[in-house]
Amino acid sequence: MSIEIKKIKYAKGELTVPGDKSISHRGVMLGALACGTTEINGFLKGADCLSTIDCFKNMGIDIGINDNTVIVKGNGLYGLNKPDRILYTGNSGTTTRLLCGILAGQSFDTSITGDASICKRPMKRVVEPLSLMGAKISGDYCPLHITGTKLHGMEYKMSVASAQVKTAIILAGLYADGQTIIHEIEKSRDHTELMLGAMGADINVNGLDITINPQKELSPQKIEVPGDISSAAFWMVLGSIMPNSEILIKNVGINATRTGIIDVLSAMGANIKSENIRTAAGEPVADITVSTAELHGTVIGGDIIPRLIDELPVIAVAAVFAKGETVIKDAQELKVKETNRIRAVVDEFKKCGIDITETDDGMIIHGGKAIHGADFKAYGDHRMAMSLTILAQLSDGISTLDDTKCVDVSYPGFFEHFYKLG
Ligand code: S3P
Repeated sequence: MSIEIKKIKYAKGELTVPGDKSISHRGVMLGALACGTTEINGFLKGADCLSTIDCFKNMGIDIGINDNTVIVKGNGLYGLNKPDRILYTGNSGTTTRLLCGILAGQSFDTSITGDASICKRPMKRVVEPLSLMGAKISGDYCPLHITGTKLHGMEYKMSVASAQVKTAIILAGLYADGQTIIHEIEKSRDHTELMLGAMGADINVNGLDITINPQKELSPQKIEVPGDISSAAFWMVLGSIMPNSEILIKNVGINATRTGIIDVLSAMGANIKSENIRTAAGEPVADITVSTAELHGTVIGGDIIPRLIDELPVIAVAAVFAKGETVIKDAQELKVKETNRIRAVVDEFKKCGIDITETDDGMIIHGGKAIHGADFKAYGDHRMAMSLTILAQLSDGISTLDDTKCVDVSYPGFFEHFYKLG
């Protein structure tokens, strides 16, 4: 469904964003591998996480959903059944790549595939390290065929900063016959390590090094999923730029591996306050207030990139309204997301007269100039659709967006919040 978007005058209000996508996926997966009942509160009922639930139901796991609570009755690490169909992961890179790590060490064979976008996303990045552990996975793109086999521990230096790749190796490490050591090149989100530690796994993290030992059993947990900072990011940018605005976003996850958006917006001059900081089921959480500020350009690159990779399209929106130049570099990973997000941002932003240049690993934006609305294309990518909606709310005149449905992947209810604030 397409939508018409007009410039708004202010953004005021309070909201709670849906649960964290990464933690919701991991809750279901690790809950399915634990011995007993895992209760997940605040679960994100987005299309991606529902794909994860479907895959595990197809492997015999009893999973119930009641409102935002999910109950997973885990059968233990060796309690999955051979599915009677190809596992379908929809649009979800996290489901696809993490499943590879779990399925490689099973005693049965499986096949995985997803939608048109998933079938174009690189899987070699998980297939290659898992093969070094003995995994038998055919194909560098979906559909993948996985022949379950015995896995070995290994020492591995990652070549890409990716939590999905790291987690796939950690999960395979649970099934290996010896210790697995992973050296990250940059710190990526660590929800798997935290959750596995809480479930009693023998996992040790020392800076960029992770050691995981084979596991006999995981203990089920009660998991409280905080609001997704990647979803809160849209309102942080809107509230910073829109005149006369103040937005309170309650119960947002502020795990240090995810807070690059707060660091960057603050460096650009934003007014962002984190209050009522607490810990819920091992993850730090806060209420975040953002109010109007004068933003200025900045340089974003290096090891902050994995801490804000999903927020870069909306950070680019902030850069459009910031005075001066913003350079986004070292972000070539954007090219292999749900769409090529460097190309998509540059092409769509140019439609409004924005001074933006594509580079090999990012983009350069000269901000602070008047811009007009346009007819935007989301490329079926949830984060593009939401970033372009924020851009449209801030642009003169009327804009259109070709696809609103795709936001359901990570933020069902996004447009209700959009109307509530505007
Ligand atoms: C995720 C890791 C990131 C992120 C994705 C979710 C995860 O992907 O972009 O939305 O839950 O592990 P990469 O591992 O490809 O960086």
